[in-house]
Amino acid sequence: MKIISVVGARPNFMKIAPFCRALAKYPEVKHVLVHTGQHYDARMSDSFFTDLGIPEPDIHLDIGSGTHAEQVGRTMIEFEKVVKAEQPDWIVVVGDVNATCACSIVAKKEHVKLAHIEAGLRSGDLGMPEEINRLVTDRLADLLFTPDRISNENLQKEGVAEERIAFVGNIMIDTLEAQRSRAEQLTVAEIIRRELLLPCEVPAMPENGFAVMTMHRPSNVDRAETLAPLIEFLTGEVANDLPLLWPIHPRARKQLELFGLWNLVREKIILLNPLGYHDMLRLNMGAKVMLTDSGGLQEECCVLGTPCLTMRWNTERPITLKEHGGASVLVGNDVNRIRAAYWEEMNSSRRPQRPELWDGHTAERIVHILREK
Ligand code: UD1
Repeated sequence: MKIISVVGARPNFMKIAPFCRALAKYPEVKHVLVHTGQHYDARMSDSFFTDLGIPEPDIHLDIGSGTHAEQVGRTMIEFEKVVKAEQPDWIVVVGDVNATCACSIVAKKEHVKLAHIEAGLRSGDLGMPEEINRLVTDRLADLLFTPDRISNENLQKEGVAEERIAFVGNIMIDTLEAQRSRAEQLTVAEIIRRELLLPCEVPAMPENGFAVMTMHRPSNVDRAETLAPLIEFLTGEVANDLPLLWPIHPRARKQLELFGLWNLVREKIILLNPLGYHDMLRLNMGAKVMLTDSGGLQEECCVLGTPCLTMRWNTERPITLKEHGGASVLVGNDVNRIRAAYWEEMNSSRRPQRPELWDGHTAERIVHILREK
């Protein structure tokens, strides 16, 4: 049996690591790991391979940045050559980034069976590029590995045959469980010292008395009318209440510079480089509150119990919301709403939750099913 698996961007790496590890137990399965190169900076890509023990990719497509059509188009052109040369039995894609969608289309056009890890998530918001990627990938996949039962229901509603769906749990939590003890050994002070983006005065900070934010989605950072009030609130209110740490994504930095907000941000927020996996996990373990528009962080906050204000109007991961027992509240990008939720969360404590099958063994279940096919 020969399997090609694909990664492209940062959120893919923590999903492929446990899959590679589980597959390596079966030397009779030939595994070819392809990196499309959508993310290419050392801090956005290489560090995860080293930190999570992901093997060096067998093939690198070097796609790089670009518009969505450029990324998807270039990936399809290059990946088609790989599939023709390798002739795999299965192609395995993870998550919802452009690489996921582009390689899924190529797989089916080349008549190769396709498996999707993290299938069935739906935000219902076609304004998000990731939602388009999810819909295309799941429509094409022969085998859909879901992280929760809500995702199974979404797929059933779309008419996906029951025998194509396998509820296996959340593979990202395999990585969290495997890496938790290493993260626990780090201190917040040492992470800040090592990863400070710009020289600034760092307030003395209790190991567990700070807020962490991440923000990079087009819906929050691409328009000054949305970004400016958010920054005003974060710098003028949150950062006055607690030290606020922001490991900043390159896209967000560019937008802040473009809209003339950079100086305000660097004065009030403790800016960090994009962080490695263990550093981010350690900050999440100690944060009093997380403010984020990331999908993966919502899930990690759920398992760690970190109160999470999700700066989006919808989520493809409803299982992480408070109404389903999780730790996250949807606050959109309305400042009044974020403020109210922030103060409410300040009075609440950590309540770790573990949705069904988020047990650290998802990759083993996936590999078992694939080998039976
Ligand atoms: C992508 C994913 C998104 C995920 C995010 C996490 C899609 C559609 N989106 O969005 O789901 O949450 O990754 O990081 O696939 N850049 C660098 N260095 C890099 C990569 C990018 O500087 O290594 C800069 C480039 O200027 C680039 C911009 O960041 O134009 C955005 O990168 P891109 O991969 O297009 O999308 P993300 O916003 O990172």
